[in-house]
Amino acid sequence: MTTYSRITGTGSYLPPRRVTNADLTAELAAKGVETSDQWIVDRTGIRARHFAAPDVTCSDLGAYAARQALEAAGVAARDIDLIIVATSTPDMVFPSAACILQNKLGMAGCAAFDVQAVCSGFVYALTIADSMIKTGAASKALVIGSEVFSRILDFNDRTTCVLFGDGAGAVVLEASDTPGILSSDLHADGKHVGILCVPGTVSGGGVLGDPLLKMDGQAVFKLAVGVLEDAARAALAKAGKTEADIDWLIPHQANIRIMQSTAKKLKLPLEKVVVTVDQHGNTSAASIPLALDWAVRGGKIKKGDTLMLEGVGGGFTWGAVLLDF
Ligand code: ACO
Repeated sequence: MTTYSRITGTGSYLPPRRVTNADLTAELAAKGVETSDQWIVDRTGIRARHFAAPDVTCSDLGAYAARQALEAAGVAARDIDLIIVATSTPDMVFPSAACILQNKLGMAGCAAFDVQAVCSGFVYALTIADSMIKTGAASKALVIGSEVFSRILDFNDRTTCVLFGDGAGAVVLEASDTPGILSSDLHADGKHVGILCVPGTVSGGGVLGDPLLKMDGQAVFKLAVGVLEDAARAALAKAGKTEADIDWLIPHQANIRIMQSTAKKLKLPLEKVVVTVDQHGNTSAASIPLALDWAVRGGKIKKGDTLMLEGVGGGFTWGAVLLDF
């Protein structure tokens, strides 16, 4: 019998500090940085984001989301045999956030590692977990996207600091004799490294280079719209499906205008697009599982629905996963 992988539970977590555009505008004004609710809403669709307290880490947020996903799946932590955390803002250089999170969940022994593909991290991680389940290397996986992007934002740069937020989302992915994940399509092109990056690193006991996020917003925008359409079409073709088979599009939540353009290119009505960017901002690798869990718990996504998950981010990386929920 063919083994497939299937999502059996979802979870998410947002740190309690909710920062509206008005809050952020006031905080930035005090530093002499000018922005407005209207500019942020018009250009991005973002109205609020959550920021973690200074002592809260990526693995903390991820552990909260993971516990919720385990509960939803009815799976005990001790039965998990694979943990993958997608993140660009791990707790430390090493060990991985996945190992730290494993210990926080009271687990030991199973494989645990991080995936670094920035905002495409969750679709990369889900594809790896699916492949490991299909080959028999794992049978019950926790796949988590968790980020504290507030740590790498330059709050003197209004072109980037208004866009991002913190949070985590998680799924339990289990071996199943029915699909599940139908197809995936992953890509990267390292020549675009400079348009979205955090160029600094740790070296010789200090930080070498600038440790804050840099972005050429317009270049990112143009690239994102094109590759998201291509990845969705490739994933559909691999599964022998068409746009008409998609019940819900769950794109990376970066900017409402990118999501609208992608939906238009795929001839999907906006009612089929899960949108949380207005309340969460861009939470990078956490945005897709956060949006998925929000739509599941809100009763939008039902068992059996066909979902297209799509990520795009620094690298440049991009990809799509098509699945029956
Ligand atoms: N408040 C007020 N004004 C601002 C702000 C701000 N926060 N930021 C920029 N401006 C000003 C600029 O200075 C510029 O002023 P000027 O015309 O006097 O020079 C004006 O607004 C227009 O700036 P643009 O950069 O041309 O604005 P644009 O319409 O391109 O919107 C944005 C900028 C929102 C960043 C857009 O380019 C975008 O969304 N790009 C994609 C970004 C993205 O999605 N990144 C993440 C994807 S991958 C990942 O998630 C890691």
